[in-house]
Amino acid sequence: MAEQKNSFSSSIGAIMAAVGSAVGLGNIWRFPYICGKYGGGAFLIVYLLFVFLIGMVLMMSEFVIGRRTQHTPAKAFSTLRPDKKGWNIIGVVGVFTLFFIVSQYHLVSGWVTSYFVDSCTGTLAGLGQNADAISQYFADFSSSVWRPIIFATIFAVITGIIITGGVQKGIERISKILMPFLLILILVLCVRSLTLPGASKGLAYLFTPDFSKLTGEGILAALGQALFSLSVGMGVMVVYGSYIPVDDNLFKTSIWITASDTLIAILAGVAIFPAVFSCGLEPAGGPGLVFCVLPQVFNTMPAVVGSIFAALFFLLVVVAALTSNISLLEGLAAWLSETANTPRRKSTLIFTVCTILMACVVSLGNGAWSDFHIFGNNIFDFVDRLNSIYMPPICALLTVIFLGWVMPEKDVRDELSNHGTLKIGYYKVFLFLARFVAPIALIAVLVSGIMN
Ligand code: TRP
Repeated sequence: MAEQKNSFSSSIGAIMAAVGSAVGLGNIWRFPYICGKYGGGAFLIVYLLFVFLIGMVLMMSEFVIGRRTQHTPAKAFSTLRPDKKGWNIIGVVGVFTLFFIVSQYHLVSGWVTSYFVDSCTGTLAGLGQNADAISQYFADFSSSVWRPIIFATIFAVITGIIITGGVQKGIERISKILMPFLLILILVLCVRSLTLPGASKGLAYLFTPDFSKLTGEGILAALGQALFSLSVGMGVMVVYGSYIPVDDNLFKTSIWITASDTLIAILAGVAIFPAVFSCGLEPAGGPGLVFCVLPQVFNTMPAVVGSIFAALFFLLVVVAALTSNISLLEGLAAWLSETANTPRRKSTLIFTVCTILMACVVSLGNGAWSDFHIFGNNIFDFVDRLNSIYMPPICALLTVIFLGWVMPEKDVRDELSNHGTLKIGYYKVFLFLARFVAPIALIAVLVSGIMN
């Protein structure tokens, strides 16, 4: 057994850091929107099944692989099967994907930070309730050259500085402060939203099951979202797993993380939709919901109140995005440190700079370079499709096959039971899900993603 070099100080610390990773942009603007679009309660049922039966299995798999080996995906797989070094390819594919996700994450987080500043300075309130003016503001802003890049750079640099602080003093400490703060913010916003007149229409949109809207596409979206939201499939949880204390119960920790992430996603919907419906607005999809519809909602409130709630909301998104961004960049930096044997600081610096440059390219794809197309998409949309549809299930599939079929089973059992000291009554179910259910579901997603 490898000795633990880097670790979180306690189970709570590990849970906070992993929840910080899981709760992100995916929860706050993507989940509410797709849940409403694909049939509310109907989508929710499918989503819950995927999250607990597949997402959580992947999370446990990554934790097992990471904690067992005390390695990042650069070496973890070959450590478990020294005769099959080729499986380290999972690490390479994961890093490649992470690189694109982080770049997009820097950019969109930068947008949110800029909107936070705009709500504090009154710029957003100054746009009034004119939907066209607000949409135009967003279109001009996101296609401009400098402002998005400057905010993305600030955001990325802050992320890099926190990571440089180390596992306990950087990642764990900031998560322990920000996660409780995030919960308070979201609860305040939920109360505000639920006490607006006509709030129940928003709840109905979010929760009433409408099975006619739950299409095949919706089911696939649910699986993709479950993986993305839990931050699994790209090896980031292998890295975090290597930091989980050796006496921690991986099953319990995974349940906590999964349940918290799901709860926050649902609360985000409760904070958003009642307010949107109360203003008689339509819930737009994608970036439009947060950047165009919500500013209108805030501007219907009395001026100061509206600005305060706008600032609180965008702050919530900034906080959620920051702790996720930390895990994404950590995934890259830790991999590089192990592959090239470079110190933590240096690998963090290298990837911070490279991902900022990539974020600039993605940003320009929205504006100055929008005529440049890859497979019919502009750069931003291409990266978005790569991040959300194709790459996550590929990495997830390889990981779960490795756990279920390639690595020695005794390592799995030994790690989940903490060398036989914990009871693992769930083990057979877990193995069945990892060997059969998860791979089949992931192959289905991939095939249909490619066919579309
Ligand atoms: N889970 C985050 C969200 O919901 C995104 C994220 C952070 C992520 N780290 C990740 C996704 C690692 C995949 C892999 O927004």
